[in-house]
Amino acid sequence: MKAIICTKYGSPDVLQLQEVEKTAPQDDEVLIRIYAASINARDWRFMRAKPFFVRLMPGGFLQPKNKILGADLAGRVEAVGRNVRQFKPGDEVFGYLPSATGRGTFAEYVCANENAITLKPSNLTFEQAAAVPLAAITALQGLRDNGNLQPGQKVLINGASGGVGTFAVQIAKAFGAEVTAVCSTRNLEMVRSLGADHVIDYKKEDFTQNGQQYDLILAVNGYHPISDYLHALKSAGTYVVAGGSMFQLIQAGSQGRRVSKSGGQKAYVESLVHSQKDLEFIKELLESEKIVPVVDGCYPLSKTAEAFWYFEKVHPKGKVVISVA
Ligand SMILES: NC(=O)c1ccc[n+]([C@@H]2O[C@H](COP(=O)([O-])OP(=O)(O)OC[C@H]3O[C@@H](n4cnc5c(N)ncnc54)[C@H](OP(=O)(O)O)[C@@H]3O)[C@@H](O)[C@H]2O)c1
Repeated sequence: MKAIICTKYGSPDVLQLQEVEKTAPQDDEVLIRIYAASINARDWRFMRAKPFFVRLMPGGFLQPKNKILGADLAGRVEAVGRNVRQFKPGDEVFGYLPSATGRGTFAEYVCANENAITLKPSNLTFEQAAAVPLAAITALQGLRDNGNLQPGQKVLINGASGGVGTFAVQIAKAFGAEVTAVCSTRNLEMVRSLGADHVIDYKKEDFTQNGQQYDLILAVNGYHPISDYLHALKSAGTYVVAGGSMFQLIQAGSQGRRVSKSGGQKAYVESLVHSQKDLEFIKELLESEKIVPVVDGCYPLSKTAEAFWYFEKVHPKGKVVISVA
């Protein structure tokens, strides 16, 4: 099968299209013919080995251990292991692979545990479906599980126009929140069209200094010290950080525990939990058109390196998709 191989750590130029052996499914796995995949920050980090400790994880110290990147997928089941009960050959599915599996979706085929996928939403193309799983579930778990989001609450999403942020805006609206979206000038209209009640251009206004306070802040990108976020939170508000610089994550992790113990405000660093139930919940939101994926661009598998250059240089609106079929 054809696959994009990450030959060493480095710029997107290390990604090369090669012919590799197609694997067979284990007893509890399905073999999926991939039609589309999408890029997440996680793939970029494993390619660049940034931050450095990626090399200490299953990534491999001197060179990537998992040579095929990619977590999100949409495709068709080609074969099933003998213990698989949920799927049969021909089913159209979507989902994402936990990073521990050591497998990647920038390829024509992948084997996945049957719990990593569910049936593809019937109203989406494969390209649209592949743009959803990891980003949408990060947004869902950040808002609902860490943030305990309730209808009517005031929520601010910092980093609202990227992969996670575009889903966070829509999911927060679907939960009945009043949503303030923070992004740059060029994306204000897009996040408004996704349902944001208020938009803030981070290039012109610092939301931590404008006197507004929120029940929940989801920081898809840190970009402020935790003290600024706490300043913009109500006294019983919750701050959830999903992404940002290593310093911001460590600071939020260490100070967050102390803040949360003090009784009033709470602060958490989100850690994605793999959940087929959440994937099914997201599927329902998609089929009822409460959320839609935002796809910035779509590249053929052979141009995956180009797609990563775009991902790295531009802040994509929503997701960058790789079309494999
Ligand atoms: N914790 C977890 O379990 C988990 C799971 C998945 C992902 N993540 C993390 O979540 C993050 C999500 O990545 P993503 O692909 O959605 O988006 P991203 O590329 O990290 O962020 C894009 C967003 O940040 C905004 N932004 C850029 N510079 C900014 C600044 N100086 N101030 C405020 N906002 C700024 C962008 O706005 P403009 O484009 O309008 O400039 C855009 O809305 C990544 O860091 C990823 O590692 C965490």
